[in-house]
Amino acid sequence: MTAPLATRVLPAGAEAVKQAARVLAAGGLVAFPTETVYGLGADATDGLAVARLYEAKGRPAFNPLIAHVVDREAALPLASFDADAARLAQAFWPGPLTLVLPKSAGCAVAELATAGLDSIAVRVPGHALARDILAAFGKPVVAPSANRSGHVSPTTAAHVAADLGGRIDLIIDGGAAPLGVESTIIACLGAPVLLRPGALPRAAIERVLARKLAEVAPARGDNAPRAPGLLAAHYAPRTPLRLNAARVAPGEALLAFGPTLPASAADAKRALNLSPRGDLVEAAANLFSHLRALDAAGASAIAVMPIPHDGLGEAINDRLTRAAARR
Ligand code: TXA
Ligand code: MG
Repeated sequence: MTAPLATRVLPAGAEAVKQAARVLAAGGLVAFPTETVYGLGADATDGLAVARLYEAKGRPAFNPLIAHVVDREAALPLASFDADAARLAQAFWPGPLTLVLPKSAGCAVAELATAGLDSIAVRVPGHALARDILAAFGKPVVAPSANRSGHVSPTTAAHVAADLGGRIDLIIDGGAAPLGVESTIIACLGAPVLLRPGALPRAAIERVLARKLAEVAPARGDNAPRAPGLLAAHYAPRTPLRLNAARVAPGEALLAFGPTLPASAADAKRALNLSPRGDLVEAAANLFSHLRALDAAGASAIAVMPIPHDGLGEAINDRLTRAAARR
């Protein structure tokens, strides 16, 4: 963690909305109320801002995040909506429903925000202040619940300040979040599946779909949905990964980190550096996009240089280890 930030707290109002949009545009972190719980927002299209968000939350791993947009029209370029998804969006947006959908090819949301997955979680919040901020900013905002990883979701600005004060730029105080529980998450990647029970009751969703929802039991803590077979739990490249590599064998690709490359780097079929200056926030922002690019190089393996384990390095190593174990 870098030096503590001076976290500003502003009361809801036109000035707060303007400041929130300004901080987001500068790659900063803003906590704001939604109708469910307080969210910690970052520019969804800015990989570095998203990496800072994971760092502030202290997430031990990169869970995919929900992209918040101001209305249904703003959601359309991000994902593809089948008939069920379109019906749910029509019925419940704005409101406490998150849809997990196939990510569209031109989707502007950073790879890190979707943790390298081909799906994306999208939500149009029903809270006036949240929508004013989204409208003023004009781009999608990723917003996990504004708590430290492993803590409960905050429903007041004071909860947020207690958990994240000194770690984020701005908190907008809009009073208590009215619903107090997180949005219901439905995956529409085939037959609709309930991934997380939440503020929108299952029965209301089943009424609109005119059928029962399949359910996936939550994995553990933090309301984390478990991914069923059809939802890849974690992104993994097809090319095998070789971790903690000190050199590159001919035919291998290289995922480098830091200023000092192995002498054999010149042999690499393709080489990309997560952060030439050895910055773990920058490395996190580049992780999934670099893995995808190297996966397409037709290499026999991807040699990954050692990544330090501090700060975001823990989450980066977690994802690399899982990806390597998938072989
Ligand atoms: O009510 C809410 O949804 C709040 C407010 C701030 O909007 N946000 C929230 O975000 O609860 P978060 O990050 O705490 O929870 C989002 C959940 C995570 O458990 C994540 O694993 C899941 O959504 N998720 C996100 N993208 C996904 C995807 N592509 N596939 C499956 N699950 C996904
Ligand atoms: Mg959460």
